[in-house]
Amino acid sequence: MCGIIGYIGKSQAVPILLDGLRRLEYRGYDSAGVAIYDGGKIETRKRVGRIANLAELIKQSPPAGTAGISHTRWATHGGVTDENAHPHSDESGQLHLCHNGVIENYNVLKDQLVREGHTFKSQTDTEVLAHLIGKHYDAIGGEPTKGRLVEALRLALKQVVGTYGIVLMHKDLPDVLVGARRGSPLVLGVGKGENFFASDVSAIVAYTRDAIYLKDYDIAALTREEFEISSLLGGASGFEVSKVEFSEEDVNKGDFPHYMLKEIYEQTETIQDAMRGRLSREEATSKLGGLEMTNAELRSVERIILTGCGTASHAAMVGEYIIEELAHVPTEVEFASEFRYRNMPLPKDSLVFVISQSGETADTLAALRESQRKGHRTLGVCNNVASTIARESDGGVYMHAGPEIGVAATKSFTSQVTILTLIGLLLGRIRHMSTTEGLRIIDELEAIPAKVAKILEQTDHIKKIAEKYSGAHSMMFLGRQFNYPVALEGALKMKEISYIHASGHPSAELKHGVIALISADVPSVFIAPDDSVFEKNVSNIEEVRARKGPIISIATEGNTKIEKVSDDVIFIPPCPDFLSPILTSIPLQLLAYHTAVTLGCDVDKPRNLAKSVTVE
Ligand code: F6R
Repeated sequence: MCGIIGYIGKSQAVPILLDGLRRLEYRGYDSAGVAIYDGGKIETRKRVGRIANLAELIKQSPPAGTAGISHTRWATHGGVTDENAHPHSDESGQLHLCHNGVIENYNVLKDQLVREGHTFKSQTDTEVLAHLIGKHYDAIGGEPTKGRLVEALRLALKQVVGTYGIVLMHKDLPDVLVGARRGSPLVLGVGKGENFFASDVSAIVAYTRDAIYLKDYDIAALTREEFEISSLLGGASGFEVSKVEFSEEDVNKGDFPHYMLKEIYEQTETIQDAMRGRLSREEATSKLGGLEMTNAELRSVERIILTGCGTASHAAMVGEYIIEELAHVPTEVEFASEFRYRNMPLPKDSLVFVISQSGETADTLAALRESQRKGHRTLGVCNNVASTIARESDGGVYMHAGPEIGVAATKSFTSQVTILTLIGLLLGRIRHMSTTEGLRIIDELEAIPAKVAKILEQTDHIKKIAEKYSGAHSMMFLGRQFNYPVALEGALKMKEISYIHASGHPSAELKHGVIALISADVPSVFIAPDDSVFEKNVSNIEEVRARKGPIISIATEGNTKIEKVSDDVIFIPPCPDFLSPILTSIPLQLLAYHTAVTLGCDVDKPRNLAKSVTVE
């Protein structure tokens, strides 16, 4: 949420910053801005809307310089206006700052600064922070040095309650950029004769693959040749230079018109990558060394809690069914935003999994910390390797799905479900599950990527269905058992990118109220593969048909009965019940995608949204 990139080096800063901002645009796209050190002064350009608007503005009068900071905004405090766009400056207009996060006590700080004579141009919490740092810088006085700016930042941050990833520059110091983080991600990119700050390595991977993932309370000062990392709490701070695993190519769209479509198509590989090296035929189980737990410890687990937000919470709900089916361990799902404030009574031997693609979602991170505070072993299922959740959890399993840039989560969902299946297999095999059953599950898991490829071949068919129903004002998504959470996920995908109202329900809930909404112009999508509840789903389909509701079914190849009761059918290859969510979710991703494209929506950047929600 909000993207930052800073550059100091020998090249012109503007093209590097704009390129980086485009790659970070998924984090917010309400407004964008840059500040460039341009021959003795700092030039800023800011504009409401997408990066393209900012680029247009810059074209009219381009600032020249080899050091600068920039920002793409997802509005929290203050409306979407040019004035509220970052960078913001201090009272003297000399210090410029970009910020990702929320300064919770900004009102108190602002009142004090106003009493001291400061005037503000925007409604943002960020401008308050810029004024506060500037005030300390001026009060310290003396020679303009890097140390003086870092000290001013340190004094200001000690007064701040909230979260931040920030970068700043001062007119007195043409050769210095300073950054700090607490709660919002910030990466330092180490180059040759140049250094970078970014919210996410994808913004800088074209220039360097050496990255330092700053920790909470780190303050970093960059020059062209050097960097220094100290702690807000005082003294130096340790760091590690990591090699970024992916390349520039991985963060490009390639031949696909949208990231979302690219990521849907990548699922043949990403599901494979989630399993790679983790299945043992010898022991008929999965190997998840990252959990860092012995079989005895795993066997003593009495209850599992799965938590996350949005799509990750839907994957968790599928996981609840899978783990209970395969391992018979009582499992519960709770939204991370609820878990963090709820005092859930849990047995001593509870194991908590926090699930997050970005590894930075504020509520999920808070749930992790709350769970650890209560003494529960808390494990992460994350995609972003260096993320805060990945670092703070007591162990976990990486998705290895590569960067997910489309704002709507797709490949991360199927990777999460795959990993939860591996967890179910592991727990089942150390309890009651036979070798034969374990091997059967491995066979079925290994067969999934080829089945996904078969579903992807039907994209044109799904596109036609999407076009046919794209005029609907409302849609229903219905499923039972393993596919009830898939109904929720299908509805979420549809509404977030096409803006068609959609809701997901257990099929049997229809009669308890939802059926009142059924009419000839409200299509119902039934997820009804050949599973233990197929016939029950068919009865619910009949109930909708009796009220003239159009039916789109997701069903298993070869099922002729479903064709008779549906207006349109998308077939998936046969698979066991517990694996069906991986397959049934993919046609729903494509249905939402093609509907949104038909309606002319901005698929990768839906309105009001941003990826990686680092505020509550
Ligand atoms: C929906 C979507 C969101 C995320 C949610 C959690 O398509 O992308 O609902 O799933 O914000 O994000 P992570 O997994 O990064 O914690």
